[in-house]
Amino acid sequence: MELIKVDLGARSYNISIGSGILPDLGRYLKELQVGKRVLLVTNSNVWRLYGKIVKESLSDAGYRVLVGEIGDGEEYKTLATAERLYDLAYQSGCDRLSPVVALGGGVVGDTAGFVAATYLRGVPLIQVPTTLLAQVDSSVGGKVAVNHPRGKNIIGAFYQPCLVLADIDVLKTLPMREIRSGLAEIIKYGIIWSEEFFSWLEENIGALLAGDAGSLVHVVQESCRIKAEVVEADETEGGLRAILNYGHTVGHAVEALTRYKKYTHGEAVGIGMVAAARLAWSLKLLGFADLSRIEALVRRAGLPYELPENLLVEDIMERFYHDKKVIGGNLTFVLPGCIGKVDIRKDLTRDILINFSKMR
Ligand code: NAD
Ligand code: GLY
Repeated sequence: MELIKVDLGARSYNISIGSGILPDLGRYLKELQVGKRVLLVTNSNVWRLYGKIVKESLSDAGYRVLVGEIGDGEEYKTLATAERLYDLAYQSGCDRLSPVVALGGGVVGDTAGFVAATYLRGVPLIQVPTTLLAQVDSSVGGKVAVNHPRGKNIIGAFYQPCLVLADIDVLKTLPMREIRSGLAEIIKYGIIWSEEFFSWLEENIGALLAGDAGSLVHVVQESCRIKAEVVEADETEGGLRAILNYGHTVGHAVEALTRYKKYTHGEAVGIGMVAAARLAWSLKLLGFADLSRIEALVRRAGLPYELPENLLVEDIMERFYHDKKVIGGNLTFVLPGCIGKVDIRKDLTRDILINFSKMR
């Protein structure tokens, strides 16, 4: 079992990563100062696969478990779902010490995290991520949110968990498409932070796609280590943390314009990372060899890497300016200068982007 500490002073916590550690959840909880009534938030799919193990582990450790099952899919990451969970928590007598345990992928984690951040002005949150994307990204760092009909993650908070427990074994039941989506965020860490990690991924992408446990532990550990370093330096995205959004400006536009149906979040990020790398190359910031490596790794991970043909440049541009990262009308683009290093650019004009898009 590997332990990574996210050092945030009073809000510090551990990320435990290993094979077969899910049944130990109750024991881990006992080491935290939390109440005996637990609100376990999950979805029907994950509950069917892992609900019994988790519930038994918590019950055996002396916790009373209330199950808040939410729908499976991005469309359930809403205030209406949060409200149902507040009702359950309130009616069942959950108090300020009653922890919320999020068992699932990013949708469950973000929604349960938002409920934990807001119920009684904040109760303890434990993230138990069950998708690769959630293990390497969404469960760590404290961004919690629900969607608004007009935009994704519009209603949210920074609210750190008090523990993240990532059991690699649960990835055995994860559909291949979701493994690939997680790989997009993993490749992102190589591009933004570590050429060494990127090279490792180039050598081991086959083993990862084949589900090799040792390789999976390594990438979850390395991704969490990088994310922890970035979040420790800039918890609430005053500056540096924006690099974690590499590939997300275009990615979010693609997701929104295809109504969150055509691509998973990770797939859209794959397209966005390649688009941002091509933009960096067109501005002579990134060399052709590095651009080719980025394109090749995204492609080998089995991710889409071209913008859908039918999307109009005007519509993509329009979405850029709706992004919640637009401040004072300025777009923020994260562009690589080489593999392992990115710049946060706020000086890209509409004309530069339109000229670039004509190169498609
Ligand atoms: P998801 O939560 O929708 O899960 C994908 C699918 O996998 C679902 O159908 C789910 O039921 C299923 N699943 C989960 N665990 C499983 C398992 N072990 N075995 C079999 N099936 C399993 O998708 P996701 O990619 O995990 O998360 C995407 C969400 O995360 C988006 O809402 C995105 O905005 C958010 N996100 C948040 C952050 C953050 O920092 N908070 C970062 C990245 C993404
Ligand atoms: N996923 C981006 C962040 O956590 O900041």
